[in-house]
Amino acid sequence: MGKDVIVACDFSSAEQTFAFLDKFTGRKPFVKIGMELYYAEGPEIVRQIKARGHRIFLDLKLHDIPNTVKKAMSVLRNLDVDITNLHAAGTTAMMRAALEGLTRPDGTRPLLIAVTQLTSTDQEAMERDLLIRAPMDEVVMHYAETAAKAGLDGVVCSPLEAGKVHQRCGSGFLTVTPGVRFADGDVGDQKRVMTPAAAKAIGSDYIVVGRPITAAADPVAAYERCVAEFCD
Ligand code: C5P
Repeated sequence: MGKDVIVACDFSSAEQTFAFLDKFTGRKPFVKIGMELYYAEGPEIVRQIKARGHRIFLDLKLHDIPNTVKKAMSVLRNLDVDITNLHAAGTTAMMRAALEGLTRPDGTRPLLIAVTQLTSTDQEAMERDLLIRAPMDEVVMHYAETAAKAGLDGVVCSPLEAGKVHQRCGSGFLTVTPGVRFADGDVGDQKRVMTPAAAKAIGSDYIVVGRPITAAADPVAAYERCVAEFCD
């Protein structure tokens, strides 16, 4: 898979999601389905979007004991998504169990990536609430290396971290980066943002873009602008 723009379909119903996806009559975007839409509509929404010809990143961020995550992944593998994920904080044992569960009898599996530290967690919260006292940058790189050693395919990280993750874990280790905004756009609640062009320059493999596309007056034009800046 090459560089691509993944559109975060953060909607609460199938109806809203299809009204949005119906606008894309040309190139079919790679779609991210998160907890909101998945919990609202269940696995059928994944099958329906897949049947329309979209590639899918199923962003459910699993984090539980290894056996439970393994069993959950062995259910999710039947949905035939392209990418799914978990929290690296679940430890190496959990990540290895997830890979086992995700692998189909024929040896194929979706790509599996790890969330390092959420971009909503800052240094202060990490120290106070999680008792992790190392610098954020070091924590993110350590989690990325742990995920790579467990055999995962990449991480979700800030575009600001993508270059360093590639240095530490190899250029083939995927970096999937949210927090993308147009230079002339609203930042919203994202704290550390980058333009699609800057994310491309720093080496992100995939950018995840939500509101700059979903809330745009012309979502298709906004998507095409992202593709032009990031992929071309
Ligand atoms: O609307 P916006 O472009 O901010 O959407 C970004 C998407 O990426 C959302 O679905 C959000 O949940 C997700 N995400 C994020 N930061 C992370 C992990 C996921 O913004 N660290």
